[in-house]
Parts: sequence; structure tokens; C-alpha cells
Amino acid sequence: MAFAGLFCPGDGADADIQTISVSAQYQGNGIGQGLLDLLINAAIERNAPAIFLEVRAENEQARALYAKNGFTQISVRKNYYQNARPHNKRSDAIIMQKILGAAHE
Ligand SMILES: CC(C)(COP(=O)(O)OP(=O)(O)OC[C@H]1O[C@@H](n2cnc3c(N)ncnc32)[C@H](O)[C@@H]1OP(=O)(O)O)[C@@H](O)C(=O)NCCC(=O)NCCS
Repeated sequence: MAFAGLFCPGDGADADIQTISVSAQYQGNGIGQGLLDLLINAAIERNAPAIFLEVRAENEQARALYAKNGFTQISVRKNYYQNARPHNKRSDAIIMQKILGAAHE
């Protein structure tokens, strides 16, 4: 139905959102927001200074979710994703960051 994953080793290291996914039939009901809240709170509990993620440039739903939650674009990886269709088409990856730690305030 839905899953999410966070890389957050602690000891002052930055956190990285590995994935967030909600099954199509359950999207638009606040589940993605709830999962993102859990990941951000887990990173804060482990004292991560910042949390990062990468998202496909065309993924408007996910980019809206992240922007709404204070993530800002810091970089673009050109042609990062390879798509099965159309053949050989590639997509850029948008790198986003949210500052969490007091050290950055
Ligand atoms: C991105 C995703 C996780 C959002 O999950 P969701 O449960 O549908 O999202 P929510 O219902 O919690 O909505 C939270 C916010 O996401 C954004 N959003 C969700 N659906 C959207 C849509 N169809 N169009 C634009 N923005 C959308 C909005 O900012 C929304 O806030 P709002 O309702 O106040 O406008 C979901 O669309 C998904 O699983 N997509 C496929 C997998 C994916 O792309 N994962 C991200 C990889 S980086």
C-alpha cells in the first residue's frame, strides 16, 4: 500500500530519503505527507543537520510534496535517470535539501 525509507546513520551525519511510495489507488489521502513527517522526525531525533533527496524532474506530485515541506532545490543531475519508455529517453534528477539542525540556524 505504501512504504518509505530513510538513510540516517546518526553521529551528526546528514540524512537521505531513499524512497516514498503510495499505491496509486491510495494517493491523495495524506499518506505521503504522513510518511514524510515520520522520516523528517526520525532524522531530527537522530540529530541529522540536514535531510536530502533526489526526485525525477517530471515528478510534479513528489516535487510539490517536498516543496510544501520546506525542501529546496540545491542541484540538478542531468540525464540521471534512464527511462524504459520512450526508449533511451533520460530524465534529470533534482537534488533537494531541508536544513534541520541548530548548527545551521
Ligand atoms: C509523491 C507521493 C508519495 C505523494 O503521496 P500522496 O499520499 O498521494 O500525497 P498526499 O495525499 O499526502 O499529498 C501531500 C502533498 O503532495 C502533493 N501532491 C500529492 N498529489 C498531488 C498531485 N496529484 N498533484 C500535485 N501535487 C500533489 C501536494 O503538495 C500535497 O499537498 P496538498 O494536498 O496540500 O496539495 C505519491 O504521489 C507517490 O507515491 N508517487 C509515486 C512514487 C513517487 O513518485 N515517489 C517519490 C519518489 S522521489
